[in-house]
Amino acid sequence: MHDPDFPINVNLETALQDIDLACWQRLQTAVHDPGAAWRLPCVATHSSGDCRLRTVVLRGVDKCLRRLVFHTDLRSGKAADIQQNPDVSLLFYDPTIAVQIVIQGMATVHTNQELADQLWLESAPASLKMYLGPLPPGSVRLRPDCNQPESVRSRIPERTELNLGRSNFAAIVIDVRTMDWLQLSRDGNYRACLTYQREAGELLTFEGAWLTP
Ligand SMILES: Cc1cc2nc3c(=O)[nH]c(=O)nc-3n(C[C@H](O)[C@H](O)[C@H](O)COP(=O)(O)O)c2cc1C
Repeated sequence: MHDPDFPINVNLETALQDIDLACWQRLQTAVHDPGAAWRLPCVATHSSGDCRLRTVVLRGVDKCLRRLVFHTDLRSGKAADIQQNPDVSLLFYDPTIAVQIVIQGMATVHTNQELADQLWLESAPASLKMYLGPLPPGSVRLRPDCNQPESVRSRIPERTELNLGRSNFAAIVIDVRTMDWLQLSRDGNYRACLTYQREAGELLTFEGAWLTP
């Protein structure tokens, strides 16, 4: 899909606000476009003194609050990591426009809250099936094991059957603090850092700075 906002034609007049807006618009579009490269970011967490990376599906974007959402299993390593240390980083790269963004933010795990209920109800049954797994992700097994109950293997469960998995479902909400934007081009690469200040979860101000790439 052609995006009229990318690549950004950077010149001396280019405003950092325009880069900010174009990136958040593209992130929002990626949520509903299965082919969009930015739909599959890598998320890094702190993990007992180590760092851990994994791919997730971008499930929600709030452009106004500069907030991102992905879904996970509450029993997963990443959910435990975030509960211990909420600082996360997300990496997005789209080769069709040669733009990378690296995000830093503060993540919260939502499971019992209204938000998780709403996202659970809005999600397609096929993507909720994994939450029926009897064992936590990463459990050691003696044989290959897809961790799906026999009764739902090779089919998409009914909504009522899925309810058993609801307690394993969590929404991870990330309040973005910084976005490091890098656009590659034969005519010259450009980079900028966008910083968002918050108070009580609300976005207060936005600042941007040009960086050498
Ligand atoms: C294309 C792709 C999309 C994925 N999406 C998700 C996701 O949205 N949520 C999730 O928890 N895991 C997702 N996974 C699996 C994770 O990358 C990871 O293997 C798993 O969640 C266990 O991670 P953890 O042990 O670090 O918590 C995805 C994997 C791939 C390859």
